[in-house]
This record gives sequence, C-alpha cells and structure tokens, in this order.
Amino acid sequence: MVLSAPEPLTAAHGVSGFSCGKPALDHWLKTHAFSNQEKGFTAVLVVHEAGGVIGYYGLAPTAVVPSILPRSVRTGNRPTRCRALLLGQLATDTGWAGRGIGTGLVKHALQRCVQAAELIGGRALMINAVDAEAAQFWQRGGFLPTRDDPLILFRSIAAIAASLVDAHRHSARC
Ligand SMILES: CC(C)(COP(=O)(O)OP(=O)(O)OC[C@H]1O[C@@H](n2cnc3c(N)ncnc32)[C@H](O)[C@@H]1OP(=O)(O)O)[C@@H](O)C(=O)NCCC(=O)NCCS
Repeated sequence: MVLSAPEPLTAAHGVSGFSCGKPALDHWLKTHAFSNQEKGFTAVLVVHEAGGVIGYYGLAPTAVVPSILPRSVRTGNRPTRCRALLLGQLATDTGWAGRGIGTGLVKHALQRCVQAAELIGGRALMINAVDAEAAQFWQRGGFLPTRDDPLILFRSIAAIAASLVDAHRHSARC
C-alpha cells in the first residue's frame, strides 16, 4: 500500500469508486469537485492509492456577516463582511476509515489555511459539518458553533496557528 501525500485533484484521479457513507459528499466529489477546482471556486486536495481517490477535502474563500461569528472570533475591527476560509468538504472512503487519513487531511487543511491567511488575510476558518457527530469532533478541536446553526463552526486562524505550533512542540518532545 503506497498512499500519496495530499495533492490537488486532477482529471487523472479516479473518483468513481469513492464512498464515504455520506451520499452528499460522494456526489460532490464525483460531479462538482473537478469543475469547482478548475473554475477556481474550491481547492480540492486528495489522497490516493494508485490514482484512486481514498480521501479528500475542499477549501474555499468565503465572507460572513460578523454577527454570526462566535464572540471570541468577532473581536477587533468589524468590516461589513468578515473574510474567512471555508472547509466545505472532508471525507475518507469507508474502506480506509480509522487509519488516520481523515486526521492527516484535517492537519493538512489547517496548515494550508494558516499559510493562505498569512498571504492574503482571513480571520477564521469556517466548518460546514455534515452532521452532529462531525460538529462534535470539531468542537473537541476548539471550533465554536454559531448560535443559530450548530453545524456551522468557526475558529480564528490565530488560534489554529497556535494549536499547530503546540502540536509540533509536543510531537518533537515525544
Ligand atoms: C470523518 C472522517 C473524514 C474521518 O476519516 P478517517 O480517515 O476515518 O479518520 P481517522 O482514521 O483519522 O480518525 C478516526 C477517528 O477520528 C474521528 N474523526 C476524524 N476526523 C473527523 C471529522 N472531521 N469529523 C468527525 N470525526 C472525525 C473519527 O470519527 C474517528 O473517531 P474514533 O477514533 O473515536 O472512532 C470519515 O469518517 C468520513 O469521511 N465520514 C463521512 C463524512 C464526514 O462525516 N465528514 C466530516 C465532514 S465535517
């Protein structure tokens, strides 16, 4: 088994066999991911084995009204729209579940967001959780749900950057 590192989705990747157990995320990968990537709406990063996609995530720029942000994310200047990044999709093929691929994709996505925000700005990362279980996972990772929709969560890029530095220090000690 040789798995790729996360890399941008191309037409050469096979997606037809992908199944994560959530039809909406399978459907998005098979019908929207590549065109969204080509048109510049979403950056789609995939992990594959021999070209067949076994995990992916999608990141896109977004802008939200400050009033929906949790208070700790909202502090400081309040432009009409707050620039943020959106992790809109994240999934691992069920045949590969529980082997660390999702965790690796999350880490890769968070690192990308911090780098992107350094280059072009962006106050927070917004998560579109697929269900309550996914929302709980993100809450354990420090993301805060919005008041009106528990499936929409935010964490400031500064807090994400700090957590990645802490995790790096911890792994260097172990
Ligand atoms: C959630 C998911 C991406 C985890 O992928 P994975 O490759 O199995 O994850 P890992 O092997 O790194 O980690 C497994 C553990 O972390 C949890 N986990 C990791 N990332 C997660 C996430 N984003 N949301 C929820 N749980 C997650 C898993 O539930 C599992 O928990 P457990 O150890 O208590 O059983 C995968 O189960 C999946 O595609 N589910 C369907 C789609 C989905 O729920 N996507 C989340 C959208 S926000």
